[in-house]
Amino acid sequence: MKLAVVGGGSTYTPELIDGFARLRDTLPISELVLVDPAADRLELVGGLARRIFAKQGHSGTIVTTSDVDAGVADADAVLLQLRVGGQAARLQDETWPLECGCVGQETTGAGGLAKALRTVPVVLDIAERVRRTNPDAWIIDFTNPVGIVTRALLQAGHKAVGLCNVAIGFQRRFAALLDVAPSEVHLDHVGLNHLTWETGVRIGGPEGENLLPRLLAEHGGSIADSLSLPRPLIDRLGVVPSYYLRYFYAHDEVVRELGTKPSRAAEVAAMEKELLAMYGDPALDTKPELLAKRGGAFYSEAAVDLAAALLSGGGSPYQVVNTVNNGTRPFLPDDAVIEVQAAVGRQGAAPLAVPAVDPLYAGLIANVTAYEDLALQAALHGGRDRVFKALLSHPLVGQYEYAEALTDKLIAHNREHLAWA
Ligand code: G6P
Ligand code: MN
Repeated sequence: MKLAVVGGGSTYTPELIDGFARLRDTLPISELVLVDPAADRLELVGGLARRIFAKQGHSGTIVTTSDVDAGVADADAVLLQLRVGGQAARLQDETWPLECGCVGQETTGAGGLAKALRTVPVVLDIAERVRRTNPDAWIIDFTNPVGIVTRALLQAGHKAVGLCNVAIGFQRRFAALLDVAPSEVHLDHVGLNHLTWETGVRIGGPEGENLLPRLLAEHGGSIADSLSLPRPLIDRLGVVPSYYLRYFYAHDEVVRELGTKPSRAAEVAAMEKELLAMYGDPALDTKPELLAKRGGAFYSEAAVDLAAALLSGGGSPYQVVNTVNNGTRPFLPDDAVIEVQAAVGRQGAAPLAVPAVDPLYAGLIANVTAYEDLALQAALHGGRDRVFKALLSHPLVGQYEYAEALTDKLIAHNREHLAWA
């Protein structure tokens, strides 16, 4: 089985390699290609990747290249984990929205729109190259903003599934609290990528007993602390929001905090420098501890599980993925992309039937879905007016004056990445 990782020069890659090595019985990879335009990073990351495989006795070969066409040629699956503009562009996304009192974040709000506009054309170009060499190849998209990028891929007719580690993170955490194996924990997972709530935590499968009330009674305090949300809020909701909901439920508080501390992009850039220096050490043959400080915990396990299901029918039968709505949530358009538990296999992802969504969440989900549609229109067709409309529709922007000002800032900071600007 041949896998290609576009954005393979990412400092995250050793996490992925470690998962591929540990879980090789689930996903037997014979050839892994790391594709990245940054040749210097590829050399460092590729070297460590080979040492991790060798140390763990993995017989697969690891190839590095900056040529996308050569890298994805005949791959059975292509993982996309790229970041157009790198941490420097992320730093911008996290900074200029604050000038209007709006949250500065790489996937939520105005910064997330900027990322979508930079990313969608690049991803579509890569997907087209994949399709040309192997129309049967699966595309697994980790590239943010995952909801919008996956929608772009599906609308262009690609065989794609979007993936995020938020759900698998909750699954692992709840399993530890309940003292059961992670595979025993089934989440009722509601919403869109980076806009989700766990409304049930079941044991054994979709029909299992819901232990969420017990989890909240026994561990509500630590769960609330880990999300930086007040315990009384979690208790009143009776569900567990992802930490991305903090940007909505505590927007102004987050904006105040962001004004007083270094940005996440700056933190990550410093970590990346340190990580790359470590990767260059020929004695290093495991993923370093420092990687655990990144947000991508367990993403390799989610990737292995999904690739195994799509390529061989293996892996977990149900997985939380981003896929087309098709009536699963009747209050959203059929072509919207939702994040949902789905039965996953060679045919792709089929969302499980789900109970109605509480209006407390449905309103916000519908609003952000409409924003994602407008954001995709702006990413595909460009133009100041489309950017303005996407911003005006976003619940964290909304006001005319801010949408105007943020449109100008977004375009000014991203001109080099926007073909139409
Ligand atoms: C989580 C999210 C990812 C995001 C990452 C950021 O894993 O699910 O979508 O890319 O956090 O982590 P970082 O360490 O770059 O801040
Ligand atoms: Mn994510």
